[in-house]
Amino acid sequence: MTGLDATILEGIEQASEFVAVAAQIREALREKCCGQPLSYQDVESVAEALGLSTTLVHASMATEPDLTLVITSDVRFTICVGECTLHGSFKNLQALLEHRKTRVEEGKMPFDIETRGCLDRCLFRPSMLIRSPDGYATKLRLKPEELPELITSLCDSW
Ligand code: FES
Repeated sequence: MTGLDATILEGIEQASEFVAVAAQIREALREKCCGQPLSYQDVESVAEALGLSTTLVHASMATEPDLTLVITSDVRFTICVGECTLHGSFKNLQALLEHRKTRVEEGKMPFDIETRGCLDRCLFRPSMLIRSPDGYATKLRLKPEELPELITSLCDSW
């Protein structure tokens, strides 16, 4: 089995798990938010209450415009969790969430994370859109190991 096959199989597994619980997650998020933007802690508490990963809960917000997160930073990473899931986007999302949490614990400037169903860069999956004071950029065929340098260069240079 090639590395790509393994990534796709893992992605199918994650996507299947996601589809099975997405509606339940969205209902819990709507109850929690009462029409207001959610905090990252709100998302964590919903994940904990449902016994699911925070990654899945963030992914479930991708296609729901009424479910938004509070803005905490000038730097935002938008992760595609559509078909990019089959090419490793859940791993990227999970890694981003972990890096953000660590930065907050260390008192460093956080960054924001949002999920979308497609970023129109489907030929170069998994893709991510970056917004910073410098403008917009797209990171194509993103790998989790590329994130630390990217985050440092965007968040620690102001
Ligand atoms: S499916 Fe991910 S960019 Fe289109």
